Amino acid sequence: MEKYISQIQTPKVSIAPMVDKTHRHFRAFSRILTKNTLLYTEMISAQSIINTDTDKHLFFNKKDEGSVALQIAACNPEDAFKAVKIAENYDYDEINLNCGCPSDRVSGNLMGAALMADKKLVFEILIAMKEATKKPITIKHRIGINGEDILNPKNSKIILEGYEDLLEFLEAISKARPDRYTIHARSAILKGLSPKENREIPPLDYTLVHKLKKDFPYLNIEINGGFKTISDIKEQLTYVDGVMIGRASYENCYLLSKFDELSTGIASNITRKSILEAYLPYVEKELLIGTSSYALLNPIQSLFLGEKGSKLFKQLLSPPNLNARNGIEIINRILKELPEESLNLY
Ligand SMILES: Cc1cc2nc3c(=O)[nH]c(=O)nc-3n(C[C@H](O)[C@H](O)[C@H](O)COP(=O)(O)O)c2cc1C
Repeated sequence: MEKYISQIQTPKVSIAPMVDKTHRHFRAFSRILTKNTLLYTEMISAQSIINTDTDKHLFFNKKDEGSVALQIAACNPEDAFKAVKIAENYDYDEINLNCGCPSDRVSGNLMGAALMADKKLVFEILIAMKEATKKPITIKHRIGINGEDILNPKNSKIILEGYEDLLEFLEAISKARPDRYTIHARSAILKGLSPKENREIPPLDYTLVHKLKKDFPYLNIEINGGFKTISDIKEQLTYVDGVMIGRASYENCYLLSKFDELSTGIASNITRKSILEAYLPYVEKELLIGTSSYALLNPIQSLFLGEKGSKLFKQLLSPPNLNARNGIEIINRILKELPEESLNLY
């Protein structure tokens, strides 16, 4: 294994790249809850960055969003190089290569998890990304894959399974010196399962990731898959450098307000009320440039999960109460109509 000691800081927690979820409004809202967490964009294909309206895909506001990693999907070094060069014009902190997405749309285009079948190609893509920028280049991948080998149709199946296979993949790509490895601790089944099933059916195996960090302590390793609570995260931090949280970040967004304590030791006492008040100016600013209230209020959906008034909260966030323009009015109604005890809860 290439002994490259990256100088980048791995935050204790990051919020996973998630298509249709981790858009810039979600990130601006998340930043109110946590200052130290690395946030990711949705996955954006290198082709889209190269061929379409760049600003539409890459625009982000550092002041509202803080540290953000851009995740790209690429199937060849040339596209990866061009996409990263274009992304250089934006203020992303890191650029990440997606080698974990099992979606047919992505794997059919030889991207995402399907790339794990060709470690040389992954190495070349990472090298191209490194050549295009001085920013940290990171990778997110699975512990294995199982499926048709679309990169080499002569082979009928490709199976990467267990520690030895994972090591073989990592030994090849480590020569490109990625700054961090984020490992989703389940295999990707490349045919027959939907992306959603691929996040649920293949079993989680954290032990492979823990062993990797133990055997190669100089590698910068972040673990991902299935973590829902602060105690889950704390336990993982005894084995690895960082923990990436996916679904729990939108299913229970208040959890984010507990993340900074893991690095600062200072407990947060931010209430739901102050979170909403802090989000109001952002909503106001975005409404003025034509952003819809539906997009702006979507990230707050789970803020009162399990608390008194959560039913009323949900009703206020749905039509006919919510419409495309009345986001401010709805937040003000939430602040007025929800029980004080829930609003002041932390
Ligand atoms: C709605 C949704 C969209 C996702 N989109 C991406 C993506 O764009 N890029 C990626 O690498 N993973 C994507 N994932 C996978 C997550 O990043 C993460 O690896 C997975 O959800 C497992 O983490 P969790 O168990 O904490 O949710 C997505 C997951 C979900 C639920």
